[in-house]
Amino acid sequence: MIEHDVLIIGAGLAGMRAALAAKQEGVDVAVVSKVHPVRSHSNAAQGGINAALTDRGDDWRDHAYDTIKGSDYLGDQDAISIMCKEAGDEVIAMEHMGAIFNRDEEGRLGTRSFGGQRQARTFFVADFTGQALLHVLYEQIMKAGARVYEEWFVLSLIVKDGRCGGVVMMDIRTGKIEVVKAKAVILAAGGLGRVFEPSTNALICTGDGMSLGYRAGASLMDMEMVQYHPTTLKGSGVLISEAARGEGAYLLNSENERFMLRYAPEFKELASRDVVSRCEQTEIDEGRGIDGCVLLDLRHLGEKYISERLSQIRELAMDFANVDMVTDPVPIMPGMHYQMGGVQANIDGETKVPGLYAAGEVACVSVHGGNRLGANSLLDTLVFGRRSGLHASELSKKIGHININENDAQSDKENIQRLLDNDKGESFGQIRLDMGTAMKEHFGVFREENSMAKGVEKIQAVKKRAENVYVADKTSTFNTNLLFTLELGFMIECAETIAASAIDRKESRGAHTRTDMPDRDDKNWIKHILVNKNEDSHEISYKDVVITEWEPQIRQY
Ligand code: FUM
Repeated sequence: MIEHDVLIIGAGLAGMRAALAAKQEGVDVAVVSKVHPVRSHSNAAQGGINAALTDRGDDWRDHAYDTIKGSDYLGDQDAISIMCKEAGDEVIAMEHMGAIFNRDEEGRLGTRSFGGQRQARTFFVADFTGQALLHVLYEQIMKAGARVYEEWFVLSLIVKDGRCGGVVMMDIRTGKIEVVKAKAVILAAGGLGRVFEPSTNALICTGDGMSLGYRAGASLMDMEMVQYHPTTLKGSGVLISEAARGEGAYLLNSENERFMLRYAPEFKELASRDVVSRCEQTEIDEGRGIDGCVLLDLRHLGEKYISERLSQIRELAMDFANVDMVTDPVPIMPGMHYQMGGVQANIDGETKVPGLYAAGEVACVSVHGGNRLGANSLLDTLVFGRRSGLHASELSKKIGHININENDAQSDKENIQRLLDNDKGESFGQIRLDMGTAMKEHFGVFREENSMAKGVEKIQAVKKRAENVYVADKTSTFNTNLLFTLELGFMIECAETIAASAIDRKESRGAHTRTDMPDRDDKNWIKHILVNKNEDSHEISYKDVVITEWEPQIRQY
């Protein structure tokens, strides 16, 4: 049987940062990923990573305040303070490992402006920062000697006597199912973007880690907080980085009006994401959109500047919308981008289940609360990835393996056999699309009680159809048909917890905006919603938000 001290699920930035930290502590570390590590979704992060460096006249407290205000006072201030304090060291560590950040005129690390922040504190590599960091970390974990199981799919976590001590996973290449023992397991499997359609997220972002944690007894927290990014490309929903607005791009409506001047006179296009997305949607809903979009105008930046700093999004807009941003404004719309909620974890990544950790988008620490600031996501992955790796390695030095054996794979094997034995029915594709469309319609930028109730009915209908799902490919070699079907199960579970939490929150806060309850209610709702799985359904409970020094205020941009 395969055994490791620390097993990390997911090879994006959080997973690889955790692996590096754990490996440097001298324990035996493995990473399992359903794709090759450098194809992880961190690859798609464009604009940058935030850090307040004191030699720039910045202060971690200012970064923390901007983050807390951005979160609409739902973020835990102890965790946010840690993230902002450790940000500078993480960015510099990445630079020392080999990340080639853009420089300013004096040759120092350069910064650009990002939304919801009073300082330009976003460090960047053109508009492919995530890709640059991902490749550097992959080199580092290879050098450190971490074992990587690439193109393996985790089916379940093994929890015995209340402790997580391993996983059941499948080799995608052969279909072989293995039981793996681990003294500590770190979930770093990323987000659930594809529960919504369209989304900026890669097709692999199917909420696997959130669902695995939930099934194993961990709590999901803040699941109602789903981020709509203000600039996603017409049609496909591909991300057009906030860096465009950070570099000076404007938003225009069909009347050629720079409408953000009206809504957010101080921050304009660089108000926080939830605010800008709502403004765009209002323009569209009130008839000042163009074909369901508004326009992002970069023409005044000029070809040279765009090519130097925004070359990827120029290419994306040309390839996917046939628009050259040098000569024409780009049609964009708010699009699902990020899940602020996830597996509840503390500042060292520990979840409610001993031995099980979570870091990165899969986790909810909670540093983003009701709305994440752009470029705080890469930071979250590195800071809490490292902390989880350290804590998990320390734990693994103190404890032995729990008693697990091949029989622990039995129910996963039976489930797969049941799917393969089914010889008729509907395939996963249309079910997945119907779920994504329903989530956008009923749990998108604006929400309302009756609409959300309809959304729940649609999710239940999708769930029913999924019970009889048909897997046409009966073979064991690279059976992506089977994998996508298993992912659908994870996705439906995530959709249910988002819907349950959204219906439960009786106010508007951050990304959760209800047209029937438009006000923030600090008296009753400065609290996190937790969802736990029980036999056939779920239970909701609450947890106080940690407030240290920043009292809630009216949020204006
Ligand atoms: O717009 C962007 O470049 C996205 C960054 C982020 O979500 O942090």
